[in-house]
Amino acid sequence: MTDRIPPEPGHSSRKKRAPATLKPGGMSTTLPDGPADYPATAPRIVTSRFGLDGSFTLSGYEATGGYTALRKALNMEREDVTSQIKAANLTGRGGAGFPAAIKWGSFSPTSPKPRWVLVNGDESEPGTYKDRMLMELDPHQLIEGVLIAAYAIDATRAFVYVRGEMAKAQERIAAALNEAYAGGYVGSDILGSGWSMDVVLHWGAGAYIVGEESALMESMEGNRGFPRLKPPSGYLPTVRGLYQQPTLINNVETLSNVPWIVLNGGDAFAGLGTEKATGTRMFALSGHVKRPGVYEVEQGRTSFRDMVFRPELGGGIRADRALKAFIPGGGSAPWWFEEHLDMPLDDLNAKQNGSMLGSGAIVVMDETTDMVRAAWRLVKFFAKESCGKCTPCREGAAWLERIYERILSGHGRPRDVDLLLDVCDNISPGSPQLRWPPEQTTICPLGQSATTPVASSVLRFRDEYEAYLAKARPSIPVNVSTPVAAGVAR
Ligand SMILES: Cc1cc2nc3c(=O)[nH]c(=O)nc-3n(C[C@H](O)[C@H](O)[C@H](O)COP(=O)(O)O)c2cc1C
Ligand code: SF4
Repeated sequence: MTDRIPPEPGHSSRKKRAPATLKPGGMSTTLPDGPADYPATAPRIVTSRFGLDGSFTLSGYEATGGYTALRKALNMEREDVTSQIKAANLTGRGGAGFPAAIKWGSFSPTSPKPRWVLVNGDESEPGTYKDRMLMELDPHQLIEGVLIAAYAIDATRAFVYVRGEMAKAQERIAAALNEAYAGGYVGSDILGSGWSMDVVLHWGAGAYIVGEESALMESMEGNRGFPRLKPPSGYLPTVRGLYQQPTLINNVETLSNVPWIVLNGGDAFAGLGTEKATGTRMFALSGHVKRPGVYEVEQGRTSFRDMVFRPELGGGIRADRALKAFIPGGGSAPWWFEEHLDMPLDDLNAKQNGSMLGSGAIVVMDETTDMVRAAWRLVKFFAKESCGKCTPCREGAAWLERIYERILSGHGRPRDVDLLLDVCDNISPGSPQLRWPPEQTTICPLGQSATTPVASSVLRFRDEYEAYLAKARPSIPVNVSTPVAAGVAR
């Protein structure tokens, strides 16, 4: 008998991996080669330079219209720039989907100064890698978006916070900033406008929780990445943010859309997608598909079925197997199944139907997936990434992980599935029924994120848990015991 979780069937840690290949349209640096109608003619806003030689250099950027939006913005009134963002109905691409113009519009000429722009490049939700692509392949587009946002709110300094592990993104942004300073796009008297602005690159240390905006500010200030209290007890970042100054925080993709909107007008952006979900969005498709990659598509006009099966997108499921489940919006999102495939890629619609598009990560699981292991892997992530500031998340997520380890190592107890659900209910009441939106007992939403893989898998695949328990042996191995659960007979 072993106390360890056995490796997945067919998995060998010594197996050599095939070298990664870049596929057209995916994490690739080449353009999609799909049928003429799609996505070749589909609008590509933020990924339009992916695949072009030198897309990340100043000369490559200038040759493709780069920094003309900044010139245009500098000749506009500040509030007119924000009006274009409002007309575009641009929503945040970092997960919460908050309207960008509301944040930008909360800075008035009388707001305290100095003000900052803070770019959230800490992307690390399981399944996401779209912001990394933007930072590596088109850093000047992001910098231009940052400059325009800073001009609109009259900020004097911007900080670009990049996740610790993304070394290439950091290098590309640093190089692009040096070029932009030398080219007169950043620094003093930008393009002779009399307006000055500095951009600082900040490297994170690799913590998922620091993607939460208030933890990001704590990290920037040199503190441990603990989220701050929100109103009514705390402050919004636009009121009191980084270094206690008003701060505009936006995601990398959100800001990368800004140059296109200023150049083409907010109405042009709003003309794409649907009335409520405007423009395009990037989706990082991963898991058991033939063509994993990052794809930019119009919001609401593409379905999950398109994304997974169209030959120029996901290309179908590996080895033409059947779909078992998919995660529509990153590791925190409730799982969806075959019957959800025709849902459009539209966050409002996803929320009305009990899940979310979150930060745009779709993870596909085929019929061979062990759902208990899949849930455990996500729970393990959230337990490790819990910052520990509040008890339900710190203790609950770690407890869930220990129960999974017990089940998977062959020592599960008959009531373990109920115990899992009970722990979930204590972290986020109603989570065992996947009540949506989830209730929060914690300071930030990470706590409830740990419960969604548990509830999603138990509700649909309880038989897989029972199968583990039916084979379990009674002895309790060292290191996988659990504390007593209130109200659960064990
Ligand atoms: C646990 C957690 C992790 C997050 N991680 C990220 C992240 O990596 N990148 C990001 O842009 N937003 C992340 N967010 C959302 C941010 O708090 C914030 O809403 C976002 O940066 C605002 O930018 P936007 O309005 O442009 O989306 C996270 C939120 C939570 C609760
Ligand atoms: S919910 Fe978790 S990650 Fe968020 S503040 Fe509480 S302990 Fe930290």
